[in-house]
Amino acid sequence: MADPMEDRITIELGERSYTVIAGEGLLDRICEVVPAATATQIAIITDGTVGPLYVPGLAASLRDAGVPVVAIEVDPGEASKDLPTVALLLDFLAETNLTRNDLVVAVGGGVVGDLTGFVASIFKRGVRVIQVPTTLMSQVDSAIGGKTGVNLPQGKNLVGTFHQPIAVLSDITTLNTLPDRQLASGLAEVAKYSFLRPDLWDKPLGQSAADLRGRDRVELIRVVRTCSRIKGELVSRDERDTADRIVLNYGHTLGHALESATGYGERYSHGEAVAVGMVFAAIVSEMTGRSEPGMRQRHADTLAPLGLPVRPFEPAPSFGDILAAMRHDKKSGGDLVMVLLAGEGKPVVARQLDESILEKCYHLLLEGV
Ligand code: NAD
Ligand code: GLY
Repeated sequence: MADPMEDRITIELGERSYTVIAGEGLLDRICEVVPAATATQIAIITDGTVGPLYVPGLAASLRDAGVPVVAIEVDPGEASKDLPTVALLLDFLAETNLTRNDLVVAVGGGVVGDLTGFVASIFKRGVRVIQVPTTLMSQVDSAIGGKTGVNLPQGKNLVGTFHQPIAVLSDITTLNTLPDRQLASGLAEVAKYSFLRPDLWDKPLGQSAADLRGRDRVELIRVVRTCSRIKGELVSRDERDTADRIVLNYGHTLGHALESATGYGERYSHGEAVAVGMVFAAIVSEMTGRSEPGMRQRHADTLAPLGLPVRPFEPAPSFGDILAAMRHDKKSGGDLVMVLLAGEGKPVVARQLDESILEKCYHLLLEGV
């Protein structure tokens, strides 16, 4: 098992390989870990909540190293992941005269990371980007792997690119200011990694739930590093998401459908929807005979102590609405595709699932454990 105290994780992608550094107090040390010297200018993109908290310190470190820094804030929240905001940011980079040798730094959660990565990938046909994720969700998932994108009115993440960062700096100190609900949302993705790769965890996640919710620094560092390693392995094997990487979608088929059927509003955080989606996937795994009975219960026993729902909030969408949303999922290509578990640590991709079985499983989900 990899040493959870090792703070550097290499994402192996040949000449585009990069390092994820996960630990404490890293923002002040950004110059030690990023090649600021090779840029004549750095543009920081952040949001209106994260900017005032973390950008002054980060910018001061960079300026102390002699690199001019400019910064721009977008409105916090998913609504900023859109094309008008992309246009605004491109204007900003052009006005700043950012060159192709310069750097863009994304400081924020997954919204800022996805948006900034996308803008960096298209400005002057691509400039380098460093991801500085400040939510647990972004530290364990979205900042790593190079998927960038924005939403269209027709759906989420419909416009995007693959653009790997040149470094990821995950400072868990930033999680101290994260609202509880956002922390729990990230813990859903952590739980996903624990179901996919239980062999990489030295103890069951449920045993760390209270410490994680209490923001115990040692536990947070351990999970951010372990998840970064798991994601990194999958990205190295399948950068373009044509094979193995799909298992990262565990819990996301129903999760995305819940988010879509409820209008991507405040009703579900992404992690809450994924948590319910993983319980659903566990039920489908059991009901289709892929896994032994008990999978659903083990999921609930892991997720509930993390502060996550294990059934849809009331009033729940009808199965008809859920089915329609699942069919529209970008991954489905018209078929119903779900990642299931043939046992913990044994993800399998199921296609053309029987709708009547899914309906039965959805009703079992609504009944609760
Ligand atoms: P987010 O970026 O909206 O951040 C959540 C909220 O927390 C925002 O209001 C933000 O301002 C605030 N915030 C961020 N860091 C903070 C901090 N340290 N202290 C206080 N407040 C802070 O949400 P998220 O959950 O980080 O990311 C969700 C987005 O990530 C979605 O758009 C999703 O599609 C995307 N995503 C992308 C990938 C990928 O592979 N690219 C993977 C998973 C999710
Ligand atoms: N978050 C899913 C992926 O990066 O593939």
